[in-house]
Amino acid sequence: MLGKLPHRTLQSLSDKYGPIMSLRLGQVPAVVISSPEAMELFLKTNDAVFASRPKIQASEFFFYGSRGLAFSEYGPYWRNMRKLCTLHLLSVSKVESFEPLRREEVGVAVKTLERATAAREGLKRAIKKTSKAFDSVLEKIIEEHEEAIIMNSNTEKEREDFVDILLSLMHHSVDGQNYGIDRTNIKAILIDMIGGSLETSASTILWALSELLRHPQVMKTLQDELDTVIGTNQMVVKESDLSKLSYLEMVIKETLRLHPAGALVPRESTEDVNVTLDGNGYFIKKNTRVLINLWALGRDPKVWPNAEMFCPERFNNVTNKDRDFRGVECFEFIPFGSGRRGCPGMHLGLTTVKTVSAQLVHKFNWELPWGLSPNDLDMNERYGLSLPRAKNLYAMPTCRK
Ligand code: HEM
Repeated sequence: MLGKLPHRTLQSLSDKYGPIMSLRLGQVPAVVISSPEAMELFLKTNDAVFASRPKIQASEFFFYGSRGLAFSEYGPYWRNMRKLCTLHLLSVSKVESFEPLRREEVGVAVKTLERATAAREGLKRAIKKTSKAFDSVLEKIIEEHEEAIIMNSNTEKEREDFVDILLSLMHHSVDGQNYGIDRTNIKAILIDMIGGSLETSASTILWALSELLRHPQVMKTLQDELDTVIGTNQMVVKESDLSKLSYLEMVIKETLRLHPAGALVPRESTEDVNVTLDGNGYFIKKNTRVLINLWALGRDPKVWPNAEMFCPERFNNVTNKDRDFRGVECFEFIPFGSGRRGCPGMHLGLTTVKTVSAQLVHKFNWELPWGLSPNDLDMNERYGLSLPRAKNLYAMPTCRK
């Protein structure tokens, strides 16, 4: 009954039954949260109670069950893994230290597109997804790193990647902390890092490009900003340019408002709790599944006038400037979730999405194929771990310079 796009079905149900509503998903009691005020109650006021995740998703989607962090239950194990990832893999300084790696990869993508401009062909990619294949790939990657460490015992720190860092944490304690991780943990964390980052960032970039193709005026304003800030002689976008690109920031925010990669965020409560909203009291039992409808949040007409319209400028006015991602003071725009269980990869995700999107539109002009007009572009989404486009995006690049 929830259909193929449950975030949409639940949004219309919440129009009728309110921002906190309970329903049963088969045997599972669930509560669906759909307004900023309700999200504040669940993700800030009662953060600790709703900081767990339902169990079945882990075994369904992730091959090492709850050995990583994204789907493990709230408690000391999760806290340990979370600390490891936040401190050693995803901190601002670590993200910065991987900049050369990303620059190389973006360069490879640009080269491929340059060749495509000559051939006028789109890109196709297929990712094979069997757990066995995944495991043997991960094993191979780990083995290669182990061999490299043995061959060259004093590897330069700045060339270290995620696998090197995790291997060294497996063998040594750092700053007096021993994380107690083994090989399976390393694979589980790597799967979390790949699962958490790849599809979310890729689908956000594709949505951004789709919206830019549908709104040529927005595309032009963005290209003008890139021409002014980076220059028409310099076609490479550097991560150090990002802080100067304020229109790019608005474009990405507006993309995440309409197309949040985590549409329905699953949580689970670990205690009985009472919450009160607008004078109404709600009793929520321990072990209730909570679905945070971030998709509905971005379309709430009380918060976003003309919510369906793609208009980056709406982030330019004073109130919306403060709607800044994290849900510290304000829960109107939280595409990365919020609270202790919020996305630890926000900085990396934003850096990747901004750099790649900016690079694609600075270096190339984009056209729709087959004489499609911007309004004809299919904008349907498909429900899954992230919220990707239902249909592939086909667009034709030409070099701007
Ligand atoms: C545009 C990019 C991204 C978006 C929109 C996004 C969104 C989200 C959302 C909504 C959640 C759930 C938060 C909550 O429960 O409140 C989440 C969790 C998570 N994300 Fe991201 N994410 C992105 C990029 C990344 C990247 C780059 C990484 C890591 C390399 C990452 C790793 C994770 C992990 C490990 C969790 C689970 C955290 C936990 O359960 O403690 N994400 N993300």
